Amino acid sequence: MSEICWTEDLSVGNQAIDDDHRHLFALLDNLQHTMPQGLVTQDAATVVEDLAHYVEAHFQREEEFMQRIGFEGYVAHKADHDRFVSEVHALQSRLDRGAQTLTLDIDKMLSDWFRRHVLVLDMALAAAVKEKAGA
Ligand SMILES: [Fe+2]
Repeated sequence: MSEICWTEDLSVGNQAIDDDHRHLFALLDNLQHTMPQGLVTQDAATVVEDLAHYVEAHFQREEEFMQRIGFEGYVAHKADHDRFVSEVHALQSRLDRGAQTLTLDIDKMLSDWFRRHVLVLDMALAAAVKEKAGA
């Protein structure tokens, strides 16, 4: 089982956002450990709930920040956040309905999504912030 962790190449150059991302990768790694091979263990619901809370709080912080600075990419960025949140909610409701196994490699899917989101959209936000600061 490979470890899901934040790496330096994911840095957006903002300490608070990087710290949030580090924490989110740790939660995703935790999720991977509570659902080995898609088997739902006792802790899975708690881990997914923690992930849902944290991810929503983090996205809200980022979205408020984007609005504050009048970021042009806000709508597309928020839509990508919303997609992730709905995936996490879908996972929560499958667990609530008593799923014992999850056929999809859901932990990998979520961490791949998150990595791509940070590398593409959060990086674009970071670049816009730098540009504004330099203008
Ligand atoms: Fe984001």
